[in-house]
Amino acid sequence: MKKVWWKESVVYQIYPISFKDSDGDGVGDLRGVISKLDYLQYLGVNVIWLCPIYKSPGHDNGYDISDYCAIESRYGTMEDFDELLEEAHKRGLKIMMDLVLNHTSDEHPWFLESRSSKDNPKRDYYIWRKGKDGQYPNNWESYFSGSVWEYDQKTDEFFMHLYAKQQPDLNWENEAMVNDLYKMIRWWLAKGVDGFRFDAIAHIVKEIGLPDADNPDNLPVVRAYHYFSNLEQVHTMLKKLNEEVLFEFDIMTVGETSGLGPEEALDYVGEDRNELNMVFQFEHMFLDAASEGTGKWEIRSWTLMELKKIMSRWQTVLHRKGWNANYLSNHDQPRPVSRFGNDGEYRVQSAKMLATFIHMLQGTPYIYQGEEIGMTNVVFDSIEDYRDVETLNYYEQSRLQGQPEEVTMNAIHKKSRDNARTPMQWDDTPHAGFTEGEPWIKLNKNHQDINVKQALADSDSIFHYYRKLIAIRKQCQAIVYGDYKLLLPLDTEIYVFVREVENEKLLVILNFFDKTPVFDWPEDLKTDDKKLMISNYEPRQGEDGYHLTLRPYEARVYLLEGDCVKP
Ligand code: GLC
Repeated sequence: MKKVWWKESVVYQIYPISFKDSDGDGVGDLRGVISKLDYLQYLGVNVIWLCPIYKSPGHDNGYDISDYCAIESRYGTMEDFDELLEEAHKRGLKIMMDLVLNHTSDEHPWFLESRSSKDNPKRDYYIWRKGKDGQYPNNWESYFSGSVWEYDQKTDEFFMHLYAKQQPDLNWENEAMVNDLYKMIRWWLAKGVDGFRFDAIAHIVKEIGLPDADNPDNLPVVRAYHYFSNLEQVHTMLKKLNEEVLFEFDIMTVGETSGLGPEEALDYVGEDRNELNMVFQFEHMFLDAASEGTGKWEIRSWTLMELKKIMSRWQTVLHRKGWNANYLSNHDQPRPVSRFGNDGEYRVQSAKMLATFIHMLQGTPYIYQGEEIGMTNVVFDSIEDYRDVETLNYYEQSRLQGQPEEVTMNAIHKKSRDNARTPMQWDDTPHAGFTEGEPWIKLNKNHQDINVKQALADSDSIFHYYRKLIAIRKQCQAIVYGDYKLLLPLDTEIYVFVREVENEKLLVILNFFDKTPVFDWPEDLKTDDKKLMISNYEPRQGEDGYHLTLRPYEARVYLLEGDCVKP
């Protein structure tokens, strides 16, 4: 297997608006990020994924870009960005930019021109269609509820937006538009950025003719994701992007690709494909949902067997052919400790167990800000306190459809993206050390107990556990490059797997719930040389080493062979 730095790295994701405010306006900023670089270096991560900091009206916190080559003034200046890049590099930290190529803001000059008249040279930079019999041009539903079409009076046509109506989709069939994007990407590469996370990249190409989706119930709009996800032409576009722009740079790339399984993912990340290094898959993120996309709001319970099945498939199908991006959280997802762990009595233990899980899989682990201190979901009683456009659209849509408020709010408490967007909890002061001013969104009330200051002071904290996980990854080839083999596939409580490379072998044992199941060591893995590498509990005195009664959310990683000293 090819050895490269981005396989050996651990990525830390920063959502700038909620990370650290340096000037008291209540909004996180680049100088805030600079002030926390030492913290990240101490944690041990190698790469920072910086969510969008480009100029933006902020309808979707920066995922609506109005100028790709300028910094949003609330976040700082281009000088601040240059300093961030330099200071990060000084500390051995790389910066991966989040780049939104599927759409822009409706305030981007291209869109202003595009909407100004039908014969404007930039008209075709976006996707415009006439209405059909006084209706939308087709029946596709937006990821953020409602139709993907918005009517524009000026030219009496509709433009397409897969997300919010302030995020018109770019038309990748227009060569001039694509060349303008290339120019912009070259400009960032010349600055020395170390990679890109390509937002919503699976959706840049839409089915030819934009056909209606099946609609047996005759609804105004229906989920139609397969008409604009992972189509063949996306691969052509990515290959071309690599040929024309990216190939000369030693960067890392990760694409956000919902709606695919590992076999299709290989078309993006296959080592011979020259498209992307990794993709973010979503199969495990929809385990607790009725279906993908807007189906996320219809909550169902998840099972460990399903999780094992999904993760194991990704581990084995991509093995030696591509590379995984492993994550349980990001700025679009609820907090993992609340979702897959236990944010009450066993918050600390379960956060550590989930961290062990992600960091011991084959692939590059991603940590989302606050995950390293076990931040939890938030429960705002009133919709007034929510800021996320997806959440607000869902609320409005549900109200119009007559769904009981209680049902809607329950779904929002569990699934709103704002769960991950409350300010980073740095200390126990009234605004958690996030800002001197009024934060743009309310804090989670638990910041008095859950914060970085506390975590740094407590040697047994989740934070220090993450540090240790990251440190052992740097020592053990088996963690990075080893094979993955699932044991006990049918066990409903324990997730056990082996990682093995040449002469290094690890056994990972994870108790996913608050019960105390027994793990019987398989005969062929018994060895007198076993060594406990990391665990979220103190070892038990007098325990029979091969018949383990696991404690709630217990995680153990044993070294069975080798010494985990990097050659
Ligand atoms: C991606 C981003 C999300 C954003 C959407 C539209 O899914 O992660 O935050 O709202 O794309 O850009």
